[in-house]
Amino acid sequence: MRGIPVIGALLLGLAAAALAGCGTKWDAIQDGSYCSDPVAFDGGVTYTAHVKPILDTACATCHATTRAGADRHGAPSGVNYDTYAEASANGESGLNLVRRQSMPPDAALASADCSVFGAWVDQGMPQ
Ligand code: HEC
Repeated sequence: MRGIPVIGALLLGLAAAALAGCGTKWDAIQDGSYCSDPVAFDGGVTYTAHVKPILDTACATCHATTRAGADRHGAPSGVNYDTYAEASANGESGLNLVRRQSMPPDAALASADCSVFGAWVDQGMPQ
């Protein structure tokens, strides 16, 4: 029985550490600062000029039509971001996950890049 307070203190410490870790990730989403940077482009946001470079770097390293098997790192085979047709077909579902910082899996997209992606979807995903 004497071990229980020690274990309790350890668990509390672990819980606090976990909460602190989560805080850094979720605070920016909850206070609305993540993915809300103003996006101002003359003539609007286009796939070719603004979105493709972001998706190529952040998503197509796993989600690409040219990738197969282990090169996809588990990304579902029908979900790709390396062409306009694929990116626009999967634009809204991708944006939802990016806004929740579920994709990319290892590191959230930079807030400004998420804003560009969001503006593009809002503007009807022009090519
Ligand atoms: C390191 C590899 C990797 C990167 C980079 C990556 N993904 Fe994913 N993605 C996955 C894996 C693995 C899954 C399936 C497991 C899951 O849903 O967590 C997935 C699932 C998804 C799904 C859900 C597909 C479905 O039908 O369930 C979408 C949408 C998605 N990713 C979008 C994106 C977007 C947008 C980006 C870039 C901003 C991105 N992913 C970057 C690996 C990746």
